Amino acid sequence: MNREKWLKKGFADEPVDPAMDLKAEISRLKEEKNAVILAHYYQTGEIQDIADFIGDSLALAQWAAKTKADVIVLCGVHFMGETAKILSPEKKVLIPDYRAGCSLADSCPTEEFEQFVKEHPGYTVISYVNTTAAVKAVTDVVVTSTNAKQIVDSFPKEEKIIFGPDRNLGNYINSITGREMVFWNGACHVHEQFSVEKIMELKTLHPEAEVLAHPECKGVVLQLADFIGSTAALLKHAICSPARSFIVATESGILHEMQKKCPGKTFIPAPPNDSTCACNECSFMRLNTLEKLYNCLKYEFPVIEVDPEVALKAVNSIRRMLDISEKLGL
Ligand code: 13P
Ligand code: SF4
Repeated sequence: MNREKWLKKGFADEPVDPAMDLKAEISRLKEEKNAVILAHYYQTGEIQDIADFIGDSLALAQWAAKTKADVIVLCGVHFMGETAKILSPEKKVLIPDYRAGCSLADSCPTEEFEQFVKEHPGYTVISYVNTTAAVKAVTDVVVTSTNAKQIVDSFPKEEKIIFGPDRNLGNYINSITGREMVFWNGACHVHEQFSVEKIMELKTLHPEAEVLAHPECKGVVLQLADFIGSTAALLKHAICSPARSFIVATESGILHEMQKKCPGKTFIPAPPNDSTCACNECSFMRLNTLEKLYNCLKYEFPVIEVDPEVALKAVNSIRRMLDISEKLGL
């Protein structure tokens, strides 16, 4: 066991016996350590299947805030682990691969965002949860794609608002609320990739299919959508809709749960622009594997830590989101 080497690699890089029953061992370690495995819908199917709870960004934060477990293994990306740690500082928060970052969070460096906030005195700062803890520390209220509209609506119409870092989500929220929020110019490299032409070709092949899109997609893609929502909202819509087939414009991991919940329906991943691949995966999310999850639980590595001073400030904007969401029944 060489923790120095692991630190450089970003995960506990120990060989896993291929003959071992990995899923049984993960369950055993989980019991032994009183751990809970939380997974985002963009994880691989095998990770989603072994998780105690799967959900979107809001649900993962809500779960992390209330779990009685001693250890949280966050199968998702780094900002989700940070949010869990900020909400449950007394717990050990682990992530299978520490390199699982987020291009959207990376598009919003703290110092530059702080400067942007200073340049807009009197503005309320609303930040998408896909940000670092340091950005959340200079934020008034955090939102996710599930609650962004309702939280923006909870402010008076004349409120001056900075919305960061996702310009696509910001544009979408402006369009449905009639606001003129000022944006930070960031985006998610996965959701920006969807090809309008390829979605239209799929629509010609499957004219009966509904197009479902995540609001992180560009406006031109959202214009093609029959339904727009967070991963959890897209899943709920797929379950409730009378349609039998769907073209899904978000990270393709969600198709696993859609197919499980709706075995008789057809889900077609919307393809990205510049690839021969039919679906669109987040390379950060997919760094987590079942083997890394096993090693992470076994060696309790890598651990997510948040500077306590930053956490003390960031917790306010996250708690405010959770409180509003609870009042709204979200
Ligand atoms: P939601 O989990 O809010 O749908 O956001 C999707 C996403 O991009 C997470 O990184
Ligand atoms: Fe970040 Fe986009 Fe990956 Fe979500 S899908 S973690 S927003 S890079």
